[in-house]
Amino acid sequence: MVGKPFDFDKKDGSYFSVKYTHIDKILKSYLCLLPGKNILDLGIGTGKNSVYLSSHGYNVVGVDYSNKATKFLNDNYPNIKTYNIDIRHFEIEPNKFDLIMSLNVLHFLHKDDVHVIIDDIKYNLCKNGIVYISVFSLDDPKLKFMKNDFFEILDNHICHKLYDDTYVSFFSKNEILELFKDFKTLYISDEYFLDNTHGSPHFHGIIKYIGQKI
Ligand SMILES: C[S@@+](CC[C@H](N)C(=O)[O-])C[C@H]1O[C@@H](n2cnc3c(N)ncnc32)[C@H](O)[C@@H]1O
Repeated sequence: MVGKPFDFDKKDGSYFSVKYTHIDKILKSYLCLLPGKNILDLGIGTGKNSVYLSSHGYNVVGVDYSNKATKFLNDNYPNIKTYNIDIRHFEIEPNKFDLIMSLNVLHFLHKDDVHVIIDDIKYNLCKNGIVYISVFSLDDPKLKFMKNDFFEILDNHICHKLYDDTYVSFFSKNEILELFKDFKTLYISDEYFLDNTHGSPHFHGIIKYIGQKI
């Protein structure tokens, strides 16, 4: 494991109070392909997609390093089973999960750790199960902003934050496709998204990938 986990509990108080009731249209359109109803959300936050899925008959397990996120879920959505740990320490039960999501989380790790987690997801996901991930792309404006004294830019678009020993990684579409080359690609996009969950509204470049284990 490389560096420390990103501590979202340091973000302002409102970050972990967002109540989600909806599901991404794109994910909804692939639910019919799931072989079963067991879902794992790595870095669940306050449950985007997962709250909806839990209230529509799916069994959701969420993992998050943030005490605030897991407390929020336990207080408001007790049907979601939570684990308050670093996803790098979470052991995925083999052949249990039909959908494994990790949305806007994996880029907060060094790519060496991301590769281990993706291998673990691929190996343990049920046959015909679906994976859904989204990560910062090379177009993310943050990549340029990180070229200053507080950050060390390593090879392969990995940034080391010197002041708290955390990492941020940026990915290309081809890199994600290569990591999932043994999966059937159902959907991939490279887009900008407006983040208004914290601070002033700002854009991120995001790659979304949905694939099926065959
Ligand atoms: C940007 S939020 C995304 C939350 C949710 N997936 C969503 O899309 O709304 C990132 C979440 O990942 C969690 N996180 C980041 N690094 C983590 C790690 N190494 N282990 C567990 N959780 C982590 C944070 O605590 C935070 O809740």
